Amino acid sequence: MILVTGATGTVGREVVSLLAARGERVRAVSRRPATAELPDGVQVVAADLADPASLAPHLTGVRAVFLIWPFTDPAAARARAPEVARLIAARGARIVYLSAPGAEYPETFWGIVERAVEESGAPWTFLRPVGFAANTLGWAGQIRAGDVVRWPYGAAARSLVHERDLAEVAVAALTTDDHLGARHLISGPTTLTQEEQVHAIGRVLGRELRWSEQPVEEARRALTASFGDAAFADLALAGWAGFVAEPEAVTDTVETVTGHPARSYAEWVADHAADFR
Ligand SMILES: NC(=O)c1ccc[n+]([C@@H]2O[C@H](COP(=O)([O-])OP(=O)(O)OC[C@H]3O[C@@H](n4cnc5c(N)ncnc54)[C@H](OP(=O)(O)O)[C@@H]3O)[C@@H](O)[C@H]2O)c1
Repeated sequence: MILVTGATGTVGREVVSLLAARGERVRAVSRRPATAELPDGVQVVAADLADPASLAPHLTGVRAVFLIWPFTDPAAARARAPEVARLIAARGARIVYLSAPGAEYPETFWGIVERAVEESGAPWTFLRPVGFAANTLGWAGQIRAGDVVRWPYGAAARSLVHERDLAEVAVAALTTDDHLGARHLISGPTTLTQEEQVHAIGRVLGRELRWSEQPVEEARRALTASFGDAAFADLALAGWAGFVAEPEAVTDTVETVTGHPARSYAEWVADHAADFR
C-alpha cells in the first residue's frame, strides 16, 4: 500500500492517478474525502497534518508515503513535522517528500521538514522541484478577463516544471529503491521569463497577451493577502528578484529518471488551456 498526502493537490492527484494506473494499491489522504474525486479503486481517508495523530490509523500496511507539507510557517513545521515523520518511520515505510530548492536554507519550512524526515530514521527521497508551471494558473483570472497580465518581475527567468513530470519522478522514488537518499533538483527543460510565459499562453490560446509590470509594493500586498503569510510573500518576491539576476537552474533529472525529456511550458499550457479560456 502506498499512502499519498496532498492527494487532491496539483502533484498528489497526478501521483495517485499514475500509481492507480500501474495497479498499485493507493490510500489517498484528504481533509474532505467526500469531495476528493479520485480514481475508482483508490482508498480515500480523512486526516489533517495539523493533527499528526489523525494520520496514524491510516499507516497500517503502508510501505511508502508521498508527503507534502501544506503549511508555510516554519513554527508549524517545527511543531508537527517530527511527529508525522516518526509515525511513518515507526511503520518501516519510506518517505518521498515534495520539498523545494529552498530546503538548502535550514530555517525554511522545507529545510525543517527534510531534517525531521532524516532524523526519523525512515528511508527517504527528497524531491526539490523549481517553480511549478501550475503557479501560472494564478494569471488565469486576468487572462479570462482581458489581454494584460499585471504581475511583478517580468524579467524573472524560471525553468517551470510540469506536474506530471514531477509525479513520474515521485512514482519512481515510491516504487523502486533507485532514489533512496537522493535530493533531486527537478526542473523543466529550459528557462522562460515570466513575460515570455505570458506570450506562450497567448500563442496556445491564439491571442496576443501583454505584460504589465506591477510595482513590488503593490504585489507584496496582493501576495500577502493571497498566501495569508507576509514572510512567505517576501520569500516569493525575493525569489523572482533573484531569477532576474540569475535564471533558475535547469537540470536533466526528469530525463534521467523517466527516460523522456521534461515537458515544455507550452505543453503544460496546452494541457491546461481550458483554465485560461
Ligand atoms: N508551487 C511551487 O512552485 C512549488 C515549488 C516547490 C515545492 N512546492 C511544494 O509543493 C507542495 C504543494 O504541492 P501541490 O501544489 O501539489 O499542492 P496544492 O495543489 O497546493 O494542494 C494542497 C494539498 O494539500 C492538502 N492539504 C492542505 N492542508 C492540509 C492539511 N492541513 N492536512 C492535510 N492535507 C492538507 C490538500 O488536500 P485537501 O484539501 O483534500 O485536504 C491538497 O491536496 C508545498 O509543500 C510546496 O511547498 C511547491
